[in-house]
Amino acid sequence: DQVERGQYRHFMQKEIFEQPAAVAETLEGRIERPDWGLDDIADGLAETWSGVEEVLILACGTSYHAAQVARYWMEAHAGLPTAVEVASEFRYRDPVVRPGTAIIAISQSGETADTLAAVRELRAHGHGPVLAICNVRESSLDREADTTLYTEAGPEIGVASTKAFTTQLTVLALLTAAASKSSQGAAWQDPGVWREELRALPRRLHGALELDESMRRVAAGLLGREHALFLGRGPFYPIAMEGALKLKEISYIHAESYPAGELKHGPLALVDEDMPVFVLAPNNQLLDKVLSNLEEVRTRGGDVVVLTEPGQGPPTGEGLEVVELPDPGALLAPVLYTIPLQLLAYHTAVLKGTDVDQPRNLAKSVTVE
Ligand code: G6P
Repeated sequence: DQVERGQYRHFMQKEIFEQPAAVAETLEGRIERPDWGLDDIADGLAETWSGVEEVLILACGTSYHAAQVARYWMEAHAGLPTAVEVASEFRYRDPVVRPGTAIIAISQSGETADTLAAVRELRAHGHGPVLAICNVRESSLDREADTTLYTEAGPEIGVASTKAFTTQLTVLALLTAAASKSSQGAAWQDPGVWREELRALPRRLHGALELDESMRRVAAGLLGREHALFLGRGPFYPIAMEGALKLKEISYIHAESYPAGELKHGPLALVDEDMPVFVLAPNNQLLDKVLSNLEEVRTRGGDVVVLTEPGQGPPTGEGLEVVELPDPGALLAPVLYTIPLQLLAYHTAVLKGTDVDQPRNLAKSVTVE
């Protein structure tokens, strides 16, 4: 066990630090060709995806958060209407799935019972094609799908998913960029821009991991706290969801995430000096709005930790802690903003002395309903 963990204290820590390599491995051979397209990321994908007019993504847990990020990407960049649903809800609805809907099922293990059942339900009604995004070859989902896009994360042991999530996002970015060649959304970007960002991703992940010590300090401030709130907008809202999930899973602190614009519709009532609030403030067109949400929190006495990036004159003031990501890029910034949140959860759990790799009541793969 210790040998496999190498220099690391826990598998989760090891897996967090493996992310640059896991993402590089996932990109390997997929962005080399100058005119890279669907067939470069998975054999036969161009054919199964011809005629796709909309997208439906099903998943559970952390994989569901990756799907939520992909919804923003697919709609903005590839102009494909995209619905995302937790598989356990979807399988018991009577959903309307229109012809021309590409179905994507995301699962690290490929064995999650609800995700598999949802896919089988769709198949039984004649829907498809089904594209799996999966980390385990020959898993049940891999076998069920028409095509599988593999994440090359390697085995993930820690129950709280880390490198599976960032490699899922990598594959979803590849898919968005390839799909945006034939179908263009309002925020369309030249595939060359995606490629440059994808190429830079492993290096940027290394940079984000340098926040380890800062996040350990922030984590120390969470000791004795019972609740935390995570806020984001756009594709950073699902990253806030993932940050809250990581914290609950392994540190047992009750954490909620909200789209920052919804703050005043309820959660603001919870904010007082005992409620730490994490705000994702990337340098994009929504920054001013996020900063005004941040003020709403600060004036109610909440301790705010802002995750942001250099070059925009970070907010300052009492009760405000700023953590800057060195170089998150633009298109793939949600992937980078994930890292400090993983580190936060990890260090909080370590400081609290909880079982980081095997949190109580949770399983790595939920194979029964
Ligand atoms: C469990 C794990 C989570 C994981 C979820 C979905 O709840 O503890 O870490 O995100 O299952 O797993 P999957 O293998 O389908 O991605």
